[in-house]
Amino acid sequence: MGFKSDFLWGGAIAANQVEGAWNIDGKGMSVADVAMFKPHLDVSDYSGHNKMTCDSLKISMNEKDTTFYPKRRGVDFYHHYKTDIALFSEMGFKTLRLSIAWTRLFPTGEESEPNQAGIAFYISVLQELKKHDIEPIVTLSHYEMPLSLSIKYNGWANRKLVDLFVNYAEVCFKAFGDYVTYWLTFNEIDSVGRHPFITAGIVPDTMQEADLDTSIYQALHHQYVAAAKATTLCHELIPNSQMGCMLTKLTTYPNTCNPSDVRLSLERNLDNYAHADIQIFGEYPILYQQYLKNKGISIKIEKDDAAILKSGTADYLAFSYYMSRTESADPNKEKAAGNTIMSVKNPYLESTEWGWQIDPIGLEISLIELYDRYHIPLIIVENGMGAKDRLDADGRINDDYRIDYFRSHIEAMGRAVYRGVDLFGYTSWAPIDSISVSTSQMSKRYGFIYVDQDDFGEGSLKRLKKQSFYWYQKVIHSNGTDLV
Ligand code: BG6
Repeated sequence: MGFKSDFLWGGAIAANQVEGAWNIDGKGMSVADVAMFKPHLDVSDYSGHNKMTCDSLKISMNEKDTTFYPKRRGVDFYHHYKTDIALFSEMGFKTLRLSIAWTRLFPTGEESEPNQAGIAFYISVLQELKKHDIEPIVTLSHYEMPLSLSIKYNGWANRKLVDLFVNYAEVCFKAFGDYVTYWLTFNEIDSVGRHPFITAGIVPDTMQEADLDTSIYQALHHQYVAAAKATTLCHELIPNSQMGCMLTKLTTYPNTCNPSDVRLSLERNLDNYAHADIQIFGEYPILYQQYLKNKGISIKIEKDDAAILKSGTADYLAFSYYMSRTESADPNKEKAAGNTIMSVKNPYLESTEWGWQIDPIGLEISLIELYDRYHIPLIIVENGMGAKDRLDADGRINDDYRIDYFRSHIEAMGRAVYRGVDLFGYTSWAPIDSISVSTSQMSKRYGFIYVDQDDFGEGSLKRLKKQSFYWYQKVIHSNGTDLV
């Protein structure tokens, strides 16, 4: 049993990491536009990169220069989308996962009418995809909420965000519904706890440390409610539409068979699942409710929320997978970096230059566990490895390491499908080099397509095909059977 004949092979990008054009055609400032590139920091220690304070926010907001704000320039997809989509099409893409920048439609998040220039831009992108027969998968919120909502309301900690988001979603459904069947509400909703500012617009030092946890869980609750309302609305407005929810799949292993390690890894996995449980089963798991109580967290839940969650459940589960985690009850174990999270180093695994531990079997395990738990279609919407690519004397980029990474992960997917998992697509992160979310580096490259630009924005922005470009083309052409 192989991949389905209509399997959605493709890639995933996010507006804030590729588009650039941060302050033109009426776009407002988003939380991504104040993310600073800090060349002096250790790239495997995310705490320094992701930290947002009131002081640093003020400095960043007043800085007009883009040098240390790479997400403001992205890779200028805004002006290169036709070339880029043509390259995706040349690879044979069946799908492209992309996101809408909320601030292109609603610069502050609170305008009564959307910015028509923003709508026109996305219509042109979607028309270009249609021209190439590429099915879009659109994420409504991928780390790019309006900065104004963060400053005015402390982001998603405030219930007001629910209606503002649902209004924005409705505008998207009406404007783009003729082109888009597959939607996603929030990128990696579980990441609110790991980086509250990027995902939920919460600036931690505006509150006492003791209140931060409550704000995080309150923000999460508001996002679940907003996602459920948007899902219901999407089904009403777009016939046959499919709305997914998305998880960062952080599969955690016990470091040893010591029951204390096993218990800890179990807790981590339950914590990870809870975010999908709520959006797929439409209710908070009993153990999760008790977990919040035990932590002393009491969030405000309105009387209709239970019904809203129950009626707006997700049609499919999308997830990102980059690495697995390992946990130990012994706090002195050597640590390893991961996707904005630290874990214990797993001695059986190799690491990327950023310390993320490469584990294709972990993807197979994740697929089997997720399908066994939820019984709904799955799609991997992010998977890839960040690396420093080098041009050889002939101007070629031989990225064998990336091909090896993808090959082993696609093989793992094949095994999971053979095992019976209903997997309907795979979008690599990211098909074209873009700006790293966690470190704001350009030099952390993921693409099959190289973009000539350095961390400080120097370069021609020329697009070059890496060796992996031709390899992925073959993979798609053979529907995942030719991985050599
Ligand atoms: C995912 C995010 O968690 O990780 C992407 O959804 C991000 O936006 C990707 O780019 C890789 O992380 P990074 O920090 O290497 O860009």
